[in-house]
Amino acid sequence: MIDRNQETYQTPSLVRHYTQLNKLQPAEQTILELLRDQLPTMRMLDIGIGGGRTTQHFSPLAGEYTGIDYSPQMIAACQQRFARSPQTMALEVMDARNMHQFADNSFDFILFSFNGIDYVSGSDRLKILSEVARVGKTGCYFYFSSHNLQGIAAEFNWRTKLSLNLLKTYVNLVMLGLLNIFNLETTRKQLETADYLIIKDESHNFRLQTYYIRPQAQIQQLEPSFEEIKIYSWQTGLEITNLQELSTNFDMWFYYLCIVK
Ligand SMILES: C[S@@+](CC[C@H](N)C(=O)[O-])C[C@H]1O[C@@H](n2cnc3c(N)ncnc32)[C@H](O)[C@@H]1O
Repeated sequence: MIDRNQETYQTPSLVRHYTQLNKLQPAEQTILELLRDQLPTMRMLDIGIGGGRTTQHFSPLAGEYTGIDYSPQMIAACQQRFARSPQTMALEVMDARNMHQFADNSFDFILFSFNGIDYVSGSDRLKILSEVARVGKTGCYFYFSSHNLQGIAAEFNWRTKLSLNLLKTYVNLVMLGLLNIFNLETTRKQLETADYLIIKDESHNFRLQTYYIRPQAQIQQLEPSFEEIKIYSWQTGLEITNLQELSTNFDMWFYYLCIVK
């Protein structure tokens, strides 16, 4: 079922949507500044580039830039978008679950932006992490974002939908109704206790199945192959250092920075 996501990312409306995006999110600006001086000597792999939003910012700075996406239509749109770009870049159709075209220890920096890792099943997500650890050199930076289960759990609570503006309350309650209809199998208990869940959320009209994980569970998932794990607010770009604060944080997603062991 979740494999339908790959088809959805091939539809013209989604390709158009991602091709129109330009700006970096604050947390992406943070990693760009952190690595700015090192990027010219780095081999960078940008996974799930969509319409090339991050390509536009990182390819001029990286020593070598490779962008991949499992949607041929997204890659075709990028090839068109960057056809006149002065930078040399490799843009290829490839699935992050199987990157056998790349040798072990190939990259210094791997980016999987805007929650792209959330569109495969739980077991396939582990394959992606293992592939990233294989194609990344020891010491390679891996930066990615993922949806926060605490954030979507709050969206299921009708109390968060009330506002003094009656029209807003009405629209919020309709969206809450749709969220419940599209996720009939998701129980309140799962929302409160599961480490991760697959949810159909409102982005792209409930067409995508999206993996949501608690930040503590994400840290545990990374620990076997990655170290020095740090978490950043996507909205402010600042590191979240207080772990207690993390368990009551309802942001819809976080950025994770870690290093291949
Ligand atoms: C939410 S979009 C983000 C696109 C782009 N990174 C941006 O920030 O605008 C996620 C992208 O990841 C790609 N994607 C998802 N799973 C993938 C996988 N297993 N391998 C390669 N690309 C994948 C999708 O095709 C889609 O283009």
